[in-house]
Amino acid sequence: MAHNELIILGIESSCDDTSAAILKNNTILSNLIARQDVHNEYGGVVPELASRAHQQNIIPVVDMAIKKAGIKKEDIDAIAFTKGPGLLGSLIVGTSFAKSFSLAMGIPMIDVNHMVGHVLAHFIDEDGKDKPNFPFLCLTVSGGHTQIVLVKDYLDMEVLGSTIDDAAGEAFDKAAKLLGFPYPGGPLIDKHSKNGNPDAFTFSKPRIEGYNFSFSGLKTSILYFLEKETKKDPEFIVKHRDDLCASIQKTVIDILFDKLIKVSSDLNIKDICIAGGVSANSGLRAELQIQGEKRGWRTFIPKFEFCTDNAAMIAITGKYMFEKGLFADQTVAPMARFSIGSGSV
Ligand code: KG4
Ligand code: ZN
Repeated sequence: MAHNELIILGIESSCDDTSAAILKNNTILSNLIARQDVHNEYGGVVPELASRAHQQNIIPVVDMAIKKAGIKKEDIDAIAFTKGPGLLGSLIVGTSFAKSFSLAMGIPMIDVNHMVGHVLAHFIDEDGKDKPNFPFLCLTVSGGHTQIVLVKDYLDMEVLGSTIDDAAGEAFDKAAKLLGFPYPGGPLIDKHSKNGNPDAFTFSKPRIEGYNFSFSGLKTSILYFLEKETKKDPEFIVKHRDDLCASIQKTVIDILFDKLIKVSSDLNIKDICIAGGVSANSGLRAELQIQGEKRGWRTFIPKFEFCTDNAAMIAITGKYMFEKGLFADQTVAPMARFSIGSGSV
């Protein structure tokens, strides 16, 4: 390690984006993402195609991240990579790369839990932005996950609630598909909601005990409703598209906030963070603002590039693990299922 600064290369390859980032202390010098468009025509991520694209992209993305950061690869003190959860074939590409790089450069490697990464993205330095104080709550909402995490310290967290079926992003995408939108439809529901009435239609909400979520019933409820209405009027979806979007969006947000508010008041925690791709949703952001003001919350959402799957969040987690000496060795293997609190972190 050169002097008192720590430079970490982060690698993220758990799903369909190949990402590499360079972190210096808590500042991101570069955070590049190679997206994969091959999946769009299939309406979802095809694991086999994802692994292949990671294999093609990983070296160029790392190379560009190092160049963009204005450093040399010899300046890197450690490599942090996503060990899981995610698609195994995708994780293997990042893990194998990390092993080779660690061996070739003679630097330690750090195996990061992707979900911890989403939470710790809140500690990346951003101009003029405060950071949450421990203990805080983090709602992680994306295409693959929906969790409420109690964060007691950087590397001490507990999942209090999670989805028992679909993730919130999946709920948006599946609903969007029923409305005839292309994949991923979440952002399109958001766009059309802006012109719609959120109270035009009501969809059933799940009754799940405790802090867990369920979204599969919502999809069924939308499906039956649309089948019934399009039998009467085949043009129903086209005529009511904006109202349908706004009503669906409101239902998803209500389901999320019901539980978030419950946890916050039960534990009396008022630092509330949101992470994951769905945090881009304008309705969710507005609701966070409203609830925050009403309940005296301090609310936090990272910059969007640190919210969706990215290597910067893996690098910052690597930094905290580095400081605790939590390193992996060459026998480390990726894990498709890897829950917070089950590994070294
Ligand atoms: O974090 P992310 O990029 O990747 C995963 O880990 O899944 O999240 C992608 C998900 C998709 O389901 C997408 O439809 C959803 O986030 N999403 C949105 C919006 N932007 C992205 N959902 C609703 N409104 C948005 N504006
Ligand atoms: Zn993710």
